[in-house]
Amino acid sequence: MRFGYFDDARREYVITTPRTPLPWINYLGCEDFFTLLSNTAGGYCFYRDARLRRLTRYRYNNCPLDSEGFRVYIKDGDTVWNPGWQPVQTELDSYSCRHGLGYTVIEGEKDGVGARQELFVPKGELCLLIRLTVSNNCPVKRKLQVFPYLEFCLWDAMDDSSNFQRNLSIGEVEVKDPAIYHKTEYRERRDHYAVFWANRPFDGFDTSREAFIGTYGSPARPQAVFGGGCTGSITHGWQPIAAEQFDLTLGPGDSESIIFGLGYIENPGDEKWESTGVINKKKALAMMARFAADDAFDAALEELRQYWEELLSGYQLYSGAQKLDRMVNVWNQYQCMVTFNMSRSASYFESGMGRGMGFRDSCQDLLGFVHLIPDRARERILDIAATQFPDGSAYHQYQPLTKKGNTAMGSGFNDDPLWLIAGADAYLRETGDWSILDEPVPFDNDPALAKPLLEHLLRSFRYTSSHLGPHGLPLIGRADWNDCLNLNCFSEHPGESFQITGPSEGPVAESVFIAGMFVKYGRALADICRHRGMDVSYMMDAVAAMEASVLDAGWDGDWFRRAFDAAGHVVGGKECREGQIFIEPQGMCVMAGIGKETGQAAAALESVKERLDTPFGIVLLDPPYSRYYLELGEIGSYPPGYKENAAVFCHNNPWIVCAEAELGHGDRAFEVYRRFAPAYIEDISEIHRTEPYVYSQMIAGKDAPDFGEAKNSWLTGTTAWSFVAISQAILGIKPTLDGLLIAPCIPASVKSYSVKRRFRGAVYVITVENPLGVQHGVRELYVNGAAHEPGVIPVQKAGSTVSIRVIMG
Ligand code: BGC
Repeated sequence: MRFGYFDDARREYVITTPRTPLPWINYLGCEDFFTLLSNTAGGYCFYRDARLRRLTRYRYNNCPLDSEGFRVYIKDGDTVWNPGWQPVQTELDSYSCRHGLGYTVIEGEKDGVGARQELFVPKGELCLLIRLTVSNNCPVKRKLQVFPYLEFCLWDAMDDSSNFQRNLSIGEVEVKDPAIYHKTEYRERRDHYAVFWANRPFDGFDTSREAFIGTYGSPARPQAVFGGGCTGSITHGWQPIAAEQFDLTLGPGDSESIIFGLGYIENPGDEKWESTGVINKKKALAMMARFAADDAFDAALEELRQYWEELLSGYQLYSGAQKLDRMVNVWNQYQCMVTFNMSRSASYFESGMGRGMGFRDSCQDLLGFVHLIPDRARERILDIAATQFPDGSAYHQYQPLTKKGNTAMGSGFNDDPLWLIAGADAYLRETGDWSILDEPVPFDNDPALAKPLLEHLLRSFRYTSSHLGPHGLPLIGRADWNDCLNLNCFSEHPGESFQITGPSEGPVAESVFIAGMFVKYGRALADICRHRGMDVSYMMDAVAAMEASVLDAGWDGDWFRRAFDAAGHVVGGKECREGQIFIEPQGMCVMAGIGKETGQAAAALESVKERLDTPFGIVLLDPPYSRYYLELGEIGSYPPGYKENAAVFCHNNPWIVCAEAELGHGDRAFEVYRRFAPAYIEDISEIHRTEPYVYSQMIAGKDAPDFGEAKNSWLTGTTAWSFVAISQAILGIKPTLDGLLIAPCIPASVKSYSVKRRFRGAVYVITVENPLGVQHGVRELYVNGAAHEPGVIPVQKAGSTVSIRVIMG
């Protein structure tokens, strides 16, 4: 069942009922100011860091669901309603929500009155704009009241939701028509405040939640709206809010719009005050003035549209397959930008208070956005590398506001260092910007310890090659990609973190997955170093030795094993009662080309198909763990079929797509791709439940009672890897250090497609023809009409448009 449809021409997903299976959200903002917004105008706002600079409150796990947001109440006689249905839930005569690229439009109609709420964050500004247009579609005059409402957060979202003995006494506001200023803690160390304004004087306001909602009231029935209007309350402590009232009279066919804004203002220490206790409003007033009129609002929205148009024009597919084109051209790339901005910090499943930016997560996200914003990818790589330790290991997480490693979580996740190579390699292949390797980057955020980025990459390599276990495989440490396989943890007490309990180093537990990574990214680093004229023989020897260890101790007969535990027992082998086969090493080892010539790679993928395939994607392992195993850690803490314990953990499905493509299996690669690609499963939204326009982290596996139900939409490594899988592995357009390689691996039934791709300043218009119906192989290649040997097309002149014709066969 569907709850909306794709409007491809406008690049929007149009939701046609407010009763979606879960709130379906969008992200507004692509620089420093962000808003999460649901299809009923639920959500919240923050500046840069969802934990430390939260502007508005959001209560996760709340009941009713999605209660806080940017709601507008419309009072029409005795009827009160919201254009997005929530929170009053008055039945609407019509409803739609259009989630577009960086903006959302919600429209509702009730009894001949229409209300349209347009929301976006303008480029270069630190504010959310909301334009409300109310129309009288009836032949008679209407008197209406309109009330926008939001609840402020006292900045540090964690403290805000826990430290009540303090924060119920510190809330402070100022009101100066037409704006409400939230200035909690501004009296002391903060240099920032929030402002909610309208572009016209209001007819009433409230800043105390209790006054507006009622002591035992609810946002579904605010006392001020249902009673006699706003009370003019000034809150002292308790819960500061911004609510305003506008009385409108609309003649037949008339409509009126009001522009609201929620802004974040910072003032230098010596310019904080206008007079004693009165905040300096200069910047806020200037911001309000910039968006006082509809044409400024429209121009800023247009600028945002242009920005996305330009961004996405760097990779456009014309396949004739509607679902594929919309995934590749719009939604997958859009989601890549969101994971760039958010890492795993703030979604409707990630509270924004838990983790900051993940080291491995951010490195992998790079793979998906490097072609879109190479400059910012460069900066990101340098930020991440600065959280590496001098021995090559790395902080597992860092906080976006401070860019400092998170000491509570520390290091010891032994795959982390190699992901830095993966990210830097993707950047170099995309941009050819070799200067990044010479950029001095601190270790442990200490400028005194700065060394060129290349040295960081070499230390990543060395860290792995010098931390090997009894079988010559890399030691796993706290965990590798699978955060829940904690082989050195042995936690017996509830509440202990699986990730930081026990020694970070164990001398025995090894990871076959990291071994596969080492082969893949060790080779990539050797290629980079070779380009720089360095001797790489020691690297290639270490890689070859690792490959041999994988094929020896890491091979189980029909698939790659997962690991060896702290007692030296196999994890992910036939001798195991549960967890016999895992997806991760099959994907990574085959992507690394291990066993490609000798048959193990093909056998491993055959085993994946036989043991792990389901109609909703490939599950992470089989059989699931039926209980908690002390020696395996968090993985067995999940009931069978959920998360790392045998869900379809979408992130590693595209690894299998890439692995199948590595072996030339175009039919199978695409089959795996389409099973979990959101646009392809739109029809089963009642089962899948999360947004049909973005990837989710996991889909409940075949052993779960709710097989097929997804969770954790938006912030997942699935996004970047899916884009790599489709754009590079399947469509075959691969940036290399020396140029663009076109090596498609497609279903035999695909006859042709074309791609427009920006690469190092030139535009490549690539047409692929498949007259013989093969799955891979290039027979002829033409560059601007001239025959060219199949293989890498050297970098073309910046500014030029190059036409490439590829004939498969
Ligand atoms: C984490 C990833 C991890 C994955 C698998 C995600 O929640 O963000 O870093 O690789 O889980 O455990």
